[in-house]
Amino acid sequence: MANMEVNFCEVRLKNPIVASSAEPTLNARNMKKCIDAGAGGVIAKTMTDSPAMRELTTRSKWRFLNEHHEVCQGKVPRAFSLYGRSGLALEEPEEFLNDIKETLKYAVVHDAVVIGSIASTEISGWVKLGKQIEDAGVPLIELNFGCPHPKLMPGVRTGMNVGQDFDYACEITKAVAEAVEVPIMIKVTPQVTDLIQFSGLLKEAGAAAVTLTNRFLGFVPDIETGKPLIYGQAGVGGPWIKPLTLRWINEVRAAYREEIFIAGTNGAYDWRDVVQFIMSGAHIVELCSAVMVHGYKWLGKQVRGLEKFMNEKGYETIDQMRGIASDAAMAYADMPRERARVNPELCNNCGRCLNGCFYQAMQQGREHTWAKEDNCIGCGGCYSLCPVPGAIDIVIHQ
Ligand SMILES: Cc1cc2nc3c(=O)[nH]c(=O)nc-3n(C[C@H](O)[C@H](O)[C@H](O)COP(=O)(O)O)c2cc1C
Repeated sequence: MANMEVNFCEVRLKNPIVASSAEPTLNARNMKKCIDAGAGGVIAKTMTDSPAMRELTTRSKWRFLNEHHEVCQGKVPRAFSLYGRSGLALEEPEEFLNDIKETLKYAVVHDAVVIGSIASTEISGWVKLGKQIEDAGVPLIELNFGCPHPKLMPGVRTGMNVGQDFDYACEITKAVAEAVEVPIMIKVTPQVTDLIQFSGLLKEAGAAAVTLTNRFLGFVPDIETGKPLIYGQAGVGGPWIKPLTLRWINEVRAAYREEIFIAGTNGAYDWRDVVQFIMSGAHIVELCSAVMVHGYKWLGKQVRGLEKFMNEKGYETIDQMRGIASDAAMAYADMPRERARVNPELCNNCGRCLNGCFYQAMQQGREHTWAKEDNCIGCGGCYSLCPVPGAIDIVIHQ
């Protein structure tokens, strides 16, 4: 039987699937539902001393969008987008801490970990919130340097406005790391040029982990009305964004190996994605949008899916999977040379592969298509377009 336990910043989680800080963790009631569903942990909605960020949540709006970026209206495709405007925890910190404490008690009985999340607009505020939430009993604190919405709120210096200012972000990290005993993890915005450098700086400043990454800002016009959906720019993400997140996890893993813990978020939909996040280098994986579509039970379903996958593949521990894909990544210059090979028995001569060939390699014969060896550089376009499994293979020739 696979053991799904993980050590994340020296805190044990029974499994790596965590409900990320968002509406599914808005209060104790919601967090308990994540725990009941079987999540290894929950990250509470970001507690803040910013009245503007609390007030924004009272006017939250979001839409699930289909592949045309139109409102789904019932049928949410696998590659949906979640386009939304929302703020941070609704209650003032002193009140929200009661939800944290209540959830912590519940979590002990259910073997789950409750992680705090904080955001302020002043360094002293970050420190105060850090101490308050530590005193409430959380074993880990996430600092939210990734929330996209403050970018749209003049004068509100938190979230992404911090994550885009590396010096200020490190100052906050250092101040909070020195003020609290528990490890801190920094949730960053993807809207910067270099998360490798930033992760290193955050580590030096005292972060035990980075959370890669919060969501992007986007803009979606409604062509019927000529107006933007939900009144303007909004946070945007969804399962399709996964490769962009995994690219950063891959690079931070490659740069720092196990010297920094990685929480992955932004694009994990189901257990398959969780596996991809772990194989890229994540220690834990945070889920949000998929839970907002399918409900809390989705979390448990993915825990069971992950366990089944590990049992079938013979992975005994999460550690055995972590980073293996990142560690196998090759530089361009090291890639082997390849060629397409057509199996004439299976090829139905549909000619679709010709659409994907720009090297004049695929040739349509009377009976079947074939690959002209001298022209083929093995790009794989034909292989991806071929509708018959096994009719085209890509083989190493050098
Ligand atoms: C409606 C909504 C509210 C969110 N609120 C917060 C928040 O309070 N704090 C935070 O750190 N991230 C917040 N996030 C970001 C999520 O925690 C998560 O990192 C992000 O949605 C990417 O994960 P996903 O692809 O599983 O949705 C929010 C996201 C959404 C959609």
